[in-house]
Amino acid sequence: MKIAVVGTGYVGLVTGTCLAETGNQVTCVDINEQKVKMMQDGKVPIYEPGLELLFHRNISQKRLLFTSVLADAIADAEIIFLALPTPPGGDGSADLSYVLGAAKDIAKLVTDYKVIVTKSTVPVGTADKVKAAIKENTNIECAVVSNPEFLREGVAVDDFMKPDRVVVGTTDERARKLMGELYAPYVRQGNPVIFMDERSSELTKYAANSFLATKISFMNEIANLCEVVGADVDMVRRGIGSDNRIGNRFLFSGIGYGGSCFPKDVQALAKSSEENQYEFKILNSVMKVNEIQKKVLVQKLKKYYNGDIKGKHFAMWGLAFKPETDDIREAPALYIIDELLAGGATVTVYDPEGMKNVKALLGDKINYAQDQYEALHGADALLIVTEWSVFRTPDFNKLVELLPSKVIFDGRNLYDLQKMIDLGFYYNSIGRKIIS
Ligand code: UDX
Repeated sequence: MKIAVVGTGYVGLVTGTCLAETGNQVTCVDINEQKVKMMQDGKVPIYEPGLELLFHRNISQKRLLFTSVLADAIADAEIIFLALPTPPGGDGSADLSYVLGAAKDIAKLVTDYKVIVTKSTVPVGTADKVKAAIKENTNIECAVVSNPEFLREGVAVDDFMKPDRVVVGTTDERARKLMGELYAPYVRQGNPVIFMDERSSELTKYAANSFLATKISFMNEIANLCEVVGADVDMVRRGIGSDNRIGNRFLFSGIGYGGSCFPKDVQALAKSSEENQYEFKILNSVMKVNEIQKKVLVQKLKKYYNGDIKGKHFAMWGLAFKPETDDIREAPALYIIDELLAGGATVTVYDPEGMKNVKALLGDKINYAQDQYEALHGADALLIVTEWSVFRTPDFNKLVELLPSKVIFDGRNLYDLQKMIDLGFYYNSIGRKIIS
């Protein structure tokens, strides 16, 4: 099939590349000419495992093209994906100006039936707004489809190529058939393409992310309770996760959820509920718990130093909001750094992929190490913020040697408590006994 993807951010680029991989002819369009040039020159603008291979393969097969001219991208396309940002506006609701602006621009250019698909996470009712924007600008009949993405950063290529499910929201029969054909190669193993109306599809995305965020905030509260009553959250997690109605995934307590999706989507769903005169009571608590949880590690640290961290120097392992990504949007690390600097401390950080983005944001306010061990030099304590695999089994002899204080604050529960006792560390993690 011939496809256009409007917007080459994270979702657009992964979508375009993965659609080309099954033989479709894909043209990606972006208003950022510099970025388009970069991609035309064969450079992937983001870090995402597995993407580069597919990107190069499809560019060399001429199935994946890039342009900054919308008319060129959509001229032959049967399906046009909108993968544009929907940032939170001032009041927390999603800003639809990019999506509606693109719909209008497309409508002015179409000469035949097109299927216009919103991939962006958009509030319920957006498909109707997109339809209206199109109708206002052309008499040609076009279908509007809601097809939310469920891609996790770090495993997005796998998630696209082998999705648990594909959700397609449309009442247009022709579009339904085309979308079914498009996704058939991705669900060969029998996972479903679930067809529904546009509004249900739009809400499905918010409901999925909000449910997952709820799981995390729930577990973070259990962790906090564990600390108070002397229980171990790892045990409780295993105890409840083996009930398959609960499931053992996505139950890890830590320092709060971050990233480009959860904070934004939970807030937007709460806001749109409110606009519809419905108070989504659980979500308000989910957000409140997350705000508190982002502060937990710093609170533990301050308590240890009797409230005074002035002049202390800290090593920090991890910056990205989660492993296998360079994304630092809403990363708890940024909050923690701010708090440490505000308290008069200094910080040396190391992250396998997130350093470049943090450097661009914070410059020389903090120090950057070449590797995880270099970060330890002269540190009073080590803070573990992202659960990258390289931090899971460090050379503990080296750790002991380079961190004479032997003080670790672990926001991701990476180490076995008995091991920390045996090595003689002060080890303060989340929802578990403090080892001192
Ligand atoms: C999420 C959704 O999973 C994906 O389906 C959607 O399309 C986009 O948003 P992503 O933002 O890439 O994906 O990250 P995810 O792996 O879901 O993690 C989100 C946050 O939750 C991270 O900050 C992570 O550290 C935190 N988390 C996750 C926990 O604190 N505990 C867990 O058990 C799992």
